[in-house]
Amino acid sequence: MKKWFAVIGDPIAHSKSPNMHNAWFEEMNIDAAYIPLHVKSENLESAISSLKTLGASGWNVTIPHKQTIIPFLDELDPLADKMGAVNTVVRLQDGRLKGYNTDGAGFVHALEEVIGKDNKDQEVLLIGAGGAARGIAFALQLFGYRKLTITNRTVEKAEDIIVELGEGKAMSIKEAEQSLGKFGIVIQSTSVGLANGEVKLPLSLEKLQEGAIAADIVYNPLMTPFLLEAQKKNVTIVNGLGMFVHQGAIAYNYWLEQYPNTNNMIKRLTEELV
Ligand code: ATR
Repeated sequence: MKKWFAVIGDPIAHSKSPNMHNAWFEEMNIDAAYIPLHVKSENLESAISSLKTLGASGWNVTIPHKQTIIPFLDELDPLADKMGAVNTVVRLQDGRLKGYNTDGAGFVHALEEVIGKDNKDQEVLLIGAGGAARGIAFALQLFGYRKLTITNRTVEKAEDIIVELGEGKAMSIKEAEQSLGKFGIVIQSTSVGLANGEVKLPLSLEKLQEGAIAADIVYNPLMTPFLLEAQKKNVTIVNGLGMFVHQGAIAYNYWLEQYPNTNNMIKRLTEELV
């Protein structure tokens, strides 16, 4: 029987996931389809029940369901459990639903695709302490990046993540600006700069180390205000597209036990975005 997959969210029309996964199915000769499903919060439970009845093999979960889906799942991967958020559901052989979170690992895969795996001793500064930052923080720890500092406009939220991690430091934006020179890897995970009109940075990059690694999780635009400013310091740039592609690739691997070609996909989506 043909397998099928979906992404559920509200809104969903803009999602690039269907194109990406369908292209991978084609490339890898998998007889499957992936469709976007517009699911409003009040319909989440019935949507899950329908996905089960209609035999979906798995699906991605996006805003606003990443947390609220958890009570409807039978099992959680430990990382998703820690993060308290799920972006990928796998229907197991016995029909039970297992939730994963591939966002954070997707970020680390994308980072390491650009900078390699030999930078784990670097001091890392994570800017932001929202849902995306939480995923990245746990994944960084899991992958062996142990010198983590989190800064956020609301510093208490950064402190909360550090307490959960059991290691690392939280600091105010001001402190982070002053000590920016010691960080080899700086990751921007806030939604600042997303709004139309005025271009804003989450913090001043005046003291950014020459040759540092600057990563953003936003991929549209590919060069965010943060990356454009960082680029002035001769840094290595990691844009947000790799994270998007790798979170999808890890999900694909959970569903089909094969890792798709991420390089070609990143090239293809880059052409669409520039
Ligand atoms: P996401 O799931 O994308 O991480 P989120 O959980 O709403 O979204 O988190 C948004 C992040 O962007 C937070 O770190 C937030 O800072 P606060 O915790 O202080 O709210 C940050 N953010 C959003 N708008 C901001 C602004 N204008 N200035 C500074 N930080 C901002």
